[in-house]
Amino acid sequence: MDRIRIIGGERLEGSIPVSGAKNATLPLMIASLLTSDTLTLKNVPHLADVNLLSRILGNHGVDMAIAGKRSGQRQGEGDTMHLNARTIADTTAPYEMVSRMRASFWVLGPILARCREARISLPGGCAIGTRPVDLHLEGLAKLGAQVDLEDGYVLARAPKGLIGGRVDFSKVSVGATHNILMAATLAKGETVIENAAREPEVGDVATCLTKMGAKIDGIGTSTLTIQGVDELEGAVHTVLPDRIETGTYAMAVAATGGDVLLDNARPDLLEAALEVLRQAGVEISETNRGLRVVRDGPGLAPIDVETEPFPGFPTDLQAQLMALMALAGGRSRIRETIFENRFMHVQELVRLGADIALEGDTAFVTGVQGLRGAQVMATDLRASVSLVIAGLTAQGETIINRVYHLDRGFERIEEKLGACGARIERLAA
Ligand code: EPZ
Repeated sequence: MDRIRIIGGERLEGSIPVSGAKNATLPLMIASLLTSDTLTLKNVPHLADVNLLSRILGNHGVDMAIAGKRSGQRQGEGDTMHLNARTIADTTAPYEMVSRMRASFWVLGPILARCREARISLPGGCAIGTRPVDLHLEGLAKLGAQVDLEDGYVLARAPKGLIGGRVDFSKVSVGATHNILMAATLAKGETVIENAAREPEVGDVATCLTKMGAKIDGIGTSTLTIQGVDELEGAVHTVLPDRIETGTYAMAVAATGGDVLLDNARPDLLEAALEVLRQAGVEISETNRGLRVVRDGPGLAPIDVETEPFPGFPTDLQAQLMALMALAGGRSRIRETIFENRFMHVQELVRLGADIALEGDTAFVTGVQGLRGAQVMATDLRASVSLVIAGLTAQGETIINRVYHLDRGFERIEEKLGACGARIERLAA
């Protein structure tokens, strides 16, 4: 497995192109299962998760092609991907696939809606918590599906097709909203989803589905109303910029000090996180190309934050914020309310010299003068990148093991940071 080597202490100066959002790209690719026409996605990031989902969709019969670079294409701009699910060759998603990527469970709704049956492996737990799928299954049952669990598989059937219904989620779930939204586009009649996730990636998928002919009201709100149609058609859609990548690089600049333009970033997608950074003393301004992040001089102020569903502070930036607050002048409180076990980065940050005490779902971070390089282990995607941020500020050498987690969600991270002056390199296995 590759490793990342960082020599800390360099300021970051320059510009970083923000890629298309991973967490929009994955459900958008899955939406291709809803039509026999071609769905074209632009600004698709180069990520291991995208490659893995391509293989999983290929197994269901989706033909995929990636267009070559176009003249005039901006640096950092993603690929154009054509997906065509003329026929669904296989309605089963086997354990070997779903266990490698949780989001592949979201093929359930589209395959069920289109083929009237689906057999999808339960995804199981993962490093950040138990992550059940009860909301997905209850939602599909409300649309008239018969849902059974058999040998670790979800067997969902709707021999006469799905029928619109009222789905009131007891908890906000991004994945369950994607799943039910996609299924409802082809159900007979009206579906109302209450307490829907308002994450921008859900809005991006709903916008793309609308281009494909779906009838959806309330995009961007917590109530989505869908009038089912007989079939969807092809469309061309550009993936929105990655707000978590944006926030991550903003926090890296805040940690090292510097002046960086986050090219193509959309500040409206991460206002809560930018507000927290401003409270900590980071200068953030909007430019016509994206976001400029500046931090000079005095230290960072501590903060008090709880993760929340959008538009609150995102759980996917919690680990990165903790790395930053390890260097603040005082004691921060960071409470994780979305996942029950998303603190695997704490012990690794402590190896680098951070002072963090965990009490249940809350981390108390007492800022230290500086971190020191060490060998650390990446445990999940966002935890890994928090170690990169810590390593960029640490004195001496930091080696991050198990880099494949990073490659799942951050495109060319060592190149993007290296171009701004960071001393970071990949050590091939
Ligand atoms: C999505 O995961 C993201 N993944 C996650 O990003 C992100 O952390 C999460 O949303 C929250 O924002 C993708 O978009 C691919 P949820 P998802 O269903 O949809 C509970 C990353 O690093 N729940 O919104 O799986 C669940 O256990 C990843 O990019 C149920 O109880 O998350 C959790 O506590 C990690 N029953 C909460 O809801 C269910 O049926 C939110 O989970 C479903 C979820």
